[in-house]
Amino acid sequence: MQMFREEVVRLLSDLVQLDKQELAMDLETPPSSEMGDFAFPCFKLAKKRRQNPAAIAADLVNTLPCSNYFEKIEAKGPYVNFFCNRELLANTTIKNILTQGKAYGQQTLGKGKTIVIDFSAPNIAKPFGVGHLRSTVIGNSLYRLYQALGYNCVGINHLGDWGTQFGKLIVAYMQWGDERKLEKQPITYLYELYVRFHSEAEKDPRLDEEARAWFKKLEDGDAEARALWQRFRDLSLTEFKRIYNLLGVEFDSYQGESFYNEMLDGTVDLIEAKGLASISEGALIVDLSEENLPPCLLRKQDGATLYATRDLCAAIYRQQHYNFTKMLYVVGADQALHFQQVFTVLQKMGYEWAENCVHVPFGLIRYKDGKMSTRRGTLVFLEDVLTKATELAKEIIQEKNPGLANKEHVARQVGIGAVIFGDLSNDRIKNIEFDWDKVLDFTGETAPYVQYAHARICSILRKAESWPAPYDATLLTNAEEQNVVRLLARFSDVIFRAAQTYKPSLIARYVLDVAAAFNSFYHQCPVLQAEEASRNARLALIDAVRQVLVNGLYLLGISAPEEM
Ligand code: ARG
Repeated sequence: MQMFREEVVRLLSDLVQLDKQELAMDLETPPSSEMGDFAFPCFKLAKKRRQNPAAIAADLVNTLPCSNYFEKIEAKGPYVNFFCNRELLANTTIKNILTQGKAYGQQTLGKGKTIVIDFSAPNIAKPFGVGHLRSTVIGNSLYRLYQALGYNCVGINHLGDWGTQFGKLIVAYMQWGDERKLEKQPITYLYELYVRFHSEAEKDPRLDEEARAWFKKLEDGDAEARALWQRFRDLSLTEFKRIYNLLGVEFDSYQGESFYNEMLDGTVDLIEAKGLASISEGALIVDLSEENLPPCLLRKQDGATLYATRDLCAAIYRQQHYNFTKMLYVVGADQALHFQQVFTVLQKMGYEWAENCVHVPFGLIRYKDGKMSTRRGTLVFLEDVLTKATELAKEIIQEKNPGLANKEHVARQVGIGAVIFGDLSNDRIKNIEFDWDKVLDFTGETAPYVQYAHARICSILRKAESWPAPYDATLLTNAEEQNVVRLLARFSDVIFRAAQTYKPSLIARYVLDVAAAFNSFYHQCPVLQAEEASRNARLALIDAVRQVLVNGLYLLGISAPEEM
């Protein structure tokens, strides 16, 4: 589509006084194919020329030069609609996909630019909640989307590995700790200790004081405190990494909150030197009342730093270290205020780059029904979710395709894919109710549905002994074929929009549409049974669909098994 878009811009820019880039941005995709492939809205011009937009549209159509890229250009109300030359579109699209393979859809827009993506960031010794799963899959998808746009991406896991909870944990471990239990299931066990600490501290408030004292020791570098903290961190991280492995997620950095420990004084000094800090009720704060925000806390009464202090420090460090053009924080919507405060303080400090920091919020997720094991209490643990999904997928595969080789592996790809898709296919900001029956349904709007379309194509291609062969894509003229081609051609546009709006759901929607378009094509048009010329054109078409499904699922962080 890019080549056609450029042609539209070229044709129009001779006639209207608009910047080419602006023109390209203004182009819309009409809601249905009967209205063409691109629509140019004339409202801006109408304002400029003080003319009726429909009159401008009609005028433009009459004066636009001919181009063999388009078979029709027509005015429709205030829009000029462009219809791509079908043969040219089919030819270039299929050829591009089959020659570019995995790279199809990739762009160069972000070349030379760095984007930092802060995502996942579970807290050590606090429950690795399903909220962290959301952040992990959304962040991972944004990472891949921006990479596809050509950006240099830096994925940072800002681990919650510092804070008063470590004081509590040290106290709890010293009092009730059991080395063997810690080794065996660090995350669960540390959480148990954490919960126990809270219930005992209710009865005995001295425990809280002790915990504060231990955290202070930790901040001051006390060897015993450090050693315990290090152990908790290492053990937890090993477990987290197992989960990331299951999900296929990687990070460029695990510099969590503790990493900034040595730099915090410097950050606080800097804020004070800029005259932004003041004392309120014994605590050091940045007053944000002018911005209508509650104050940002830098230091508690006892001198201990806070989550916000560490985020301020981290942002400044990352700007210096990575020189990013953009930094995304993929964190639940419940932290919106925190990020507003942090970004505002950065602005007040005079950092222009503060406006390139974006909080990418998301809603809550709830796992419906009793299929989840409750043996670990009311809390849903991420690993249990993934294990459960894999088990359910295995049952389904057992039923549908008992002879499948690699059942275990495929079940994992399908089960975990279903969990990821069940998350990403929803509007990011909405709360989701996660329903096992729905996400694993092979006929619903699910990962298995898309994966199944892909596996089906692989099976057809395996049977087509003569493929790959020379083909003529201009033979793809019927409505189903053209519908598929048109969708495939849109891939890079969709990537661009999904990245720009931080919405992986657009890619999820897109792969569903591609799978559905393939299914209705396959329902109408024989492939292997068609006569040779048409068979080869259709094989080329479905091979292209296969590639785009693989690439699209990859952007979501989902694998595409060849058989299932
Ligand atoms: N650990 C935090 C939490 O679980 C999320 C951290 C997000 N990243 C950040 N830079 N604040 O709530």
